[in-house]
Amino acid sequence: MHQPVPPEPSAQATPHPQAPMTKTILIVGGSHGITSALRDQLAGAGHRVLTANRSGSGAGHQNYDATSGDQLDVPDQLDGLVYAPGSITLKPFHRLTAGDMLDEFKLNALGAAAAIQQCLPALKKSPAASIVLFSTVAVQTGLPFHASIAMAKGAVEGLTRSLAAELAPKIRVNAIAPSLTDTPLAANLVNSDAKREASAARHPLATIGDPDDVAALAKFLLTDESKFITGRYSTSTAASGTCAHFDQDSAYLPKDQPHPPIRLVTPDLI
Ligand SMILES: NC(=O)c1ccc[n+]([C@@H]2O[C@H](COP(=O)([O-])OP(=O)(O)OC[C@H]3O[C@@H](n4cnc5c(N)ncnc54)[C@H](OP(=O)(O)O)[C@@H]3O)[C@@H](O)[C@H]2O)c1
Repeated sequence: MHQPVPPEPSAQATPHPQAPMTKTILIVGGSHGITSALRDQLAGAGHRVLTANRSGSGAGHQNYDATSGDQLDVPDQLDGLVYAPGSITLKPFHRLTAGDMLDEFKLNALGAAAAIQQCLPALKKSPAASIVLFSTVAVQTGLPFHASIAMAKGAVEGLTRSLAAELAPKIRVNAIAPSLTDTPLAANLVNSDAKREASAARHPLATIGDPDDVAALAKFLLTDESKFITGRYSTSTAASGTCAHFDQDSAYLPKDQPHPPIRLVTPDLI
């Protein structure tokens, strides 16, 4: 009598032995822009996605304003947290007020820290948790009129590295620093063909960022495919140590200057 033949071992990489295949991920954001693309990609892959923002609705959604001191409704266990609220206050430095700078710091940096603190007990219950924050390419590149947002997002990058060290090995912490991406947040920078073409011309792939592409990187950082990566920020355009001229009438147009070194949104370049 024949014994049943055991199935061939899968040729695919095995996940972390204790990591759940289906993760529960809370996105602060998720109603539009990069994180609505991320929400759809994660849900499409079978993950349980919860969203917290000011304008969303539906199952798994909670109303939440990151600047209000609201408390997040957090499940008992979380495998992933994304903090996406951001701002772009572009002004010549002499016109920036302390209020401008404090507002950007509160939304981008303090809001992220508060969300992480509230979610930490639930993240610690996961066998393999991941936090994804958002910076901006302006921090490492150096762009005129970006002083306020670069200060606030610079704090996010510091938070990323500090917590990556403090929360290892169970919780990974990474940040994504997008270049100009076609979302409601960047509407003023991409609201004419001339602006879009000028911005696209500064990028090697001759296009501005697509929210789906940035979301794909966030998804990678949230799942066990990136289980060996923590404390990193990844950018979608010019490398650190470069400066770029910025013309407000033709966003991100370089003047008399070669394109800075380029990084693309691919996992192997994180
Ligand atoms: N787009 C770009 O060109 C670009 C470039 C560099 C960096 N980034 C960074 O990438 C991240 C995502 O950008 P995005 O373009 O996708 O932004 P977005 O289109 O403005 O989307 C941000 C998400 O966060 C939510 N949100 C905003 N303020 C909030 C608040 N106070 N409380 C709770 N939720 C809030 C929004 O929902 P509600 O409005 O409904 O609350 C939305 O779901 C940001 O941190 C941004 O700074 C973007």
